Amino acid sequence: MRICHLSDLHVGGVGFVPEWADRARVMVNELRPDIIVFTGDLVDDGYEHEYEAALTYCDEFEAPVKLFVPGNHDARNSGYEIFEEVFGTRYPQYENDDVVICGIDSSQPDIDDGHIGRSHYATIRKQLSAKKLRFLALHHHLLPIPGTGRERNLPVDAGDLLGLCSEMHVDFILTGHKHQPWLWRLEDSFYLTAGTACTRLLVGRSRPSFTWLDIDDDIRVSEMNVKDEHAFEILRVRRREMETEFETVGV
Ligand SMILES: [Fe+2]
Ligand SMILES: [Fe+2]
Repeated sequence: MRICHLSDLHVGGVGFVPEWADRARVMVNELRPDIIVFTGDLVDDGYEHEYEAALTYCDEFEAPVKLFVPGNHDARNSGYEIFEEVFGTRYPQYENDDVVICGIDSSQPDIDDGHIGRSHYATIRKQLSAKKLRFLALHHHLLPIPGTGRERNLPVDAGDLLGLCSEMHVDFILTGHKHQPWLWRLEDSFYLTAGTACTRLLVGRSRPSFTWLDIDDDIRVSEMNVKDEHAFEILRVRRREMETEFETVGV
C-alpha cells in the first residue's frame, strides 16, 4: 500500500508556482498511490474562485481514496463553509483492512492558531482504537519544527493531543503548515510534517516537496523534492516491531 501526503498547495496565492504544481501532480500519479492525504492550506484566502481552482487541480490526482483536511488559510473569509461544499467534510475518515485514517480540522475562522477541541477527543479515540496502522491527519503541527523561526501556531491544545497520541500509540501523525518537511519520533508515534508541494513560500533555501509512505512488512517514508525531482528515504521501520525498533535513515 502506498500513501502520498501533500500539504500547503495555496492555490490562488502569490507563491503558487503552476510549474511545480503540475510536476507534483505528475510525480504523485506516477507513484500510483492507493491513498492521498492533503493536510490543509489547499487555497490561500478561502475564496470561492480559489476553491474552484483547487478542486480542478486536486481532481487531476489519481488515487482510489483522497482525504482533505482544512488549514488556517482554507478557513479564512468563511472559506471553511466552501471547504465542506467542495471536499465534503472537515473530518474525513477512512478505514480498510490495513489502515485507519482519522482526519480532523485544526483550523479556526480567520485565526492562524490551531485548535482541535475537547469535544473531538472521544471521536479520535474511538476511530483510532482499531488494531491497524493508525494515522491522524491534521493541518497544524503538534511539535515545533527546527529552523522555522518563532513558534506561533501550535494548536492551543497541542499538549492534550500529544497525550492522546501517546496514550493511543498512534503510528503516524500527518501534518503541514510550516512549509518545512520534518519527522519527529516521540514515544511510539512518528510525527510527519510535509512541506509545501508547490509554492515558493519556503523556509530559507528549502525545497517544495511532498512525502509518501510505502507500507508492507517494512514501512518506508520518502520525500520528493519537486524542484529537482530528487527523492530520498527518510525513515525505514519494521512494521511488526514499530514499538521496539526503528531506524532513521536521515532527515
Ligand atoms: Fe501553508
Ligand atoms: Fe497553514
